[in-house]
Amino acid sequence: MAEITKKWFKEMSVYQIWTRSFCDSNGDGIGDLPGVYSKLDYIKSLGVDAIWFSPIFPSPNADYGYDVSDYKNINPEFGTLDDFKMILEGAHARGMRVFMDLVVNHTSSEHEWFKESRKSVDNPYHDYYFWRKGKDGNPPNNWLSVFEGGAWEYDKNLDEYYLHVFAKGQPDLNMDNPKVREEVKSIMRFWLDMGVDGFREDVITFISKDEGLPNGIPLPVATGVEHYKHGPHLEEYLDEFRAVAKEYDCMQVGEGPMTSLKDAVKLCAEGPDQKLDMMISFDHMNADCFMIDWVKTPFSLRKLKSTMAKWQEAMYGVGWNCLYIENHDHARVIDRYGSVKFREQSGKALATMYTMQCGTPFIYQGQEIGMTNPTVGHLTDCKDVSTFNNYKIFKKLGYSEKRFLKLWSEVSRECARTPVQWSAEKNAGFTSADEPWFVINKNYKEVNVEAAEKDPNSILNYYRKLLKFRKENEVVIYGDFKQYYANSNKLFVYERNYEGQKLFVVVSFSENPVNFKAPEGIDLTKAELAIGNYDVVNPNKNEFRTKPYEARVYLFK
Ligand code: NOJ
Repeated sequence: MAEITKKWFKEMSVYQIWTRSFCDSNGDGIGDLPGVYSKLDYIKSLGVDAIWFSPIFPSPNADYGYDVSDYKNINPEFGTLDDFKMILEGAHARGMRVFMDLVVNHTSSEHEWFKESRKSVDNPYHDYYFWRKGKDGNPPNNWLSVFEGGAWEYDKNLDEYYLHVFAKGQPDLNMDNPKVREEVKSIMRFWLDMGVDGFREDVITFISKDEGLPNGIPLPVATGVEHYKHGPHLEEYLDEFRAVAKEYDCMQVGEGPMTSLKDAVKLCAEGPDQKLDMMISFDHMNADCFMIDWVKTPFSLRKLKSTMAKWQEAMYGVGWNCLYIENHDHARVIDRYGSVKFREQSGKALATMYTMQCGTPFIYQGQEIGMTNPTVGHLTDCKDVSTFNNYKIFKKLGYSEKRFLKLWSEVSRECARTPVQWSAEKNAGFTSADEPWFVINKNYKEVNVEAAEKDPNSILNYYRKLLKFRKENEVVIYGDFKQYYANSNKLFVYERNYEGQKLFVVVSFSENPVNFKAPEGIDLTKAELAIGNYDVVNPNKNEFRTKPYEARVYLFK
């Protein structure tokens, strides 16, 4: 059996903050850092060990912070560097680490480097980006962006095009230029010297592009992706960044859209060649869609299980998994993989299903109280570049605004960006402003932190139990993973083993009763029901019928 090494970041769980919607302290309708500071005790009370901030740097918000215009400062909408230092200190004092988002595949088009780069072809910053001449009056190649049609934007002054794999306001950095890599290292050092403990690295697997930028295989979006999703120099560049990280014992979680499991294992394999500590994979977020969230398919538990099991097995003893079911890029998971009708039960079932696996669990703001997707009346209520791009696409397919917005409320990533619901008060206690920057889910009177705090059986208190249990039992952190009943489309059943301890997990994804029978070799009469989302009268039975979205975690000592 594979040997497992112990590391601090393997033992932690992480809370992700998307600041704009977290908590507004100054009544301007926008969440901010003093708002986060005021909630540090709450965050700590969840039992997490770290906070990851989605980008909080100055940004014109073409992609809400993922278009950075100054890497060494704080977005004035959110506060100041001093506010951030207070958080850092406050988090550290509470035994929590802080991770920043390192967004270096692209900058904002408002970044000084880019402004310089477009002044003239001889400008020293010109080669910080991909500026190219057109071909016969057309862009340099056929690449399409992820967010806004063609991947090239023409600049009349230079008579050249610049590459943007994401939005027009997100020009790609030319990482082949050694000066750009030095800038990245300098950004890392800036935050690490301040005391930051690691980075989540945005689309870091896209940073090396194929030589000559050849045409790509035509796709509806992101044509050309095969030429940069694991480019020729990716590993060299990651080595350079890793060397900086090593000086500080900092943690690096890479985001790898479309990264294969094989490549992820290669990048995360422990040893002298390791590039990253974990990978944010998208594979398990495709259990109810085809390739991208907007192409919806019925939820398939089998698909979810087989993907998760593959990652669990391949990483065990080799690298480490990043466990998540929500973040700012996907609609709320209860709507997707659970049931709004059984919100409480399915929220807890989903929590159990993923936090009991092997890896570091990430929890996205609002997930811990079971927030669900909102609805909006008009496209003008929406804010996100990907919504507007998808509207253009779906309009061509004949969708009316109303039909599009119905789909939006099922699949768009904006669904996860509504303000956190703190209480049943005005604007869910998120802001004292008349108008929050974005819609608040209409269910806030019932779904909010204050109500969840008062209810011992809330999803919130259930998360606390799971995280505490994980911390107290090494088998949850370091145990291996073995799945049972892989073909069942109703039950997710697995065991974990570590140094004589065994964990056995049963999670139903059905609102109807399902007959469960312990697999051979598992005797539940000898185990303790450590955690569950129902009160079970006689848990020590080897056969039972599950309740809607029932979850049970048994411990054998
Ligand atoms: C991935 C981020 O998570 C997403 O929110 C962003 O839009 C893209 N990268 C581009 O930075």
